[in-house]
Amino acid sequence: MLRKLDRDSKRQNRLIVVSNRLPMSLTQEADEHWTAKPSSGGLVSAMMPVLRRQGGVWIGWPGTVDASREQVAPALEQAARETRCSFEPVMLTQEEVEGFYHGFSNEVIWPLFHDLFTNCNFDPSYWHCYERVNHKFAEAVANVYRPGDFIWVHDYHLMDIADALKRMGLQAKTGFFLHTPFPPLEIFLKLPWRFEILRSLLQFDSIGFQTLRDRRNFLQCVRALFKLHIDGAGSVVQLHVTNQDPEWSTLFDNETAVERDICVGSFPIGIDYQTLAELAEQEPTAAKAARLKDDLSGRQMILGVDRLDYTKGLPNKLQAFRNALERYPELRGRINLVQHVIPSRSDIPEYRQLKFELEHLVGEINGQFTESGWVPIHYMYHSLPFEDLVAYYRAADMALITSLKDGMNLVAKEYCAAQVDETGALILSEFAGAAAQLQKGALLVNPHDIEQVADGIYSAFKMPQLERRNRMRALRRTVRTQDVYRWADTFLTVTTNRDPVHVPYTEDYLPRAQ
Ligand code: UDP
Ligand code: G6P
Repeated sequence: MLRKLDRDSKRQNRLIVVSNRLPMSLTQEADEHWTAKPSSGGLVSAMMPVLRRQGGVWIGWPGTVDASREQVAPALEQAARETRCSFEPVMLTQEEVEGFYHGFSNEVIWPLFHDLFTNCNFDPSYWHCYERVNHKFAEAVANVYRPGDFIWVHDYHLMDIADALKRMGLQAKTGFFLHTPFPPLEIFLKLPWRFEILRSLLQFDSIGFQTLRDRRNFLQCVRALFKLHIDGAGSVVQLHVTNQDPEWSTLFDNETAVERDICVGSFPIGIDYQTLAELAEQEPTAAKAARLKDDLSGRQMILGVDRLDYTKGLPNKLQAFRNALERYPELRGRINLVQHVIPSRSDIPEYRQLKFELEHLVGEINGQFTESGWVPIHYMYHSLPFEDLVAYYRAADMALITSLKDGMNLVAKEYCAAQVDETGALILSEFAGAAAQLQKGALLVNPHDIEQVADGIYSAFKMPQLERRNRMRALRRTVRTQDVYRWADTFLTVTTNRDPVHVPYTEDYLPRAQ
């Protein structure tokens, strides 16, 4: 890894990606060797193809507290040989994982940013640990940084890092992209560290959000708490601050410059459409998809793929499915919900409770409806190899996404990319970021409205092939043209050159009265 880093360091303008998690998580095998397994979630799925294409350095935590740097190095070197980038581990202690990752990131910011502030545990020790660990990540960045590099920080775990970098005297161009939603002012205000977080975010040169809704919420907080002037309209706006502004000293006390421009934009993230669509086309995938269909003996497959997370609305999905079976008896024996739940954050009590709740509900619904030869819900709690996931996407007659709130939801886009036969229907929560881009083509539902979701299932079940094809074609066009490479290029061009590039303007979805 060091050799690779040295080679990279000779290149100018490298991309340094920083996120809490590296794209691989290390686990120790029975023979004591450390092996790397792919990390799950949308951030890794989106960023890995980008780094594979353009190379660079990825700094993050390798997902274990039990190994030393030296122990994880061979697995990371191996991963670096298979890609064009190198991986720099930030090792965390058990105490840091508890305070920074489980604590501040996932018991404060994650629920707050998904509007679930009653789930927040505002423990002050979490905040102090968050500051310390952000400083630790900043040190790791400073160790690999060369003048001209662009530092691209990802997600809510590392909102304090630009401030830490500045305090260390590093003069670098920095950008931040938030993969989650950003909450409305009245929710953000509940955060005891609201000024600190907002001030830290404003230390980045550019800040990207998934949707206009998130960007609007952020700007509303900035206006309310710092009274800043905001220029421009469209997807990207500029915050312009000079040392004549009353808030200058609060925001940029140590700056030598006399003015700052901060670019704030909405950049909806995409997927690697081409790779996914090509994999879906391949013969082994087609054969796997055909077997999955055969297993259901001609019944329609409703597919669910969600990390185990209370933001995904999994209980709502199961209740809506039960409601559909109750209210539309013709669906019985003719439809299956195939739900994959991907293990996630299992050390946090809410996540463990959710697993029990889901298992109980699945048992109840299957107990209520199972007949000889038909079990309505196939529930699997596991991670899937990518090839198998794509086969499911290709085989499924519908994908059902019921997030209560979601930054984007890449599963929705992956399902469309893999629908090479254009026979599937997408039922999508209107509270997923993807609803804005996919509103033409998807059946949009309010996941809190169990009967509406059930009606969506029934409509998709009965939808004529021609309508499915037309809708899927429109969806695939959007996912193809606004893929992850375009997203990365747009973010990097806007934020590093400040060129006037065209950034697609995507209106948020708003329901209309029926
Ligand atoms: N995914 C995964 N492991 C699996 C199944 C799926 O990593 O076993 C991926 C999936 O392909 C998708 C991501 O997890 O890219 C989920 O992203 P999404 O934006 O839908 O939600 P997130 O988990 O990031 O909240
Ligand atoms: C979401 C977050 C990512 C995170 C992923 C998986 O997609 O936006 O930052 O990596 O969930 O969660 P985990 O806690 O396992 O990293």
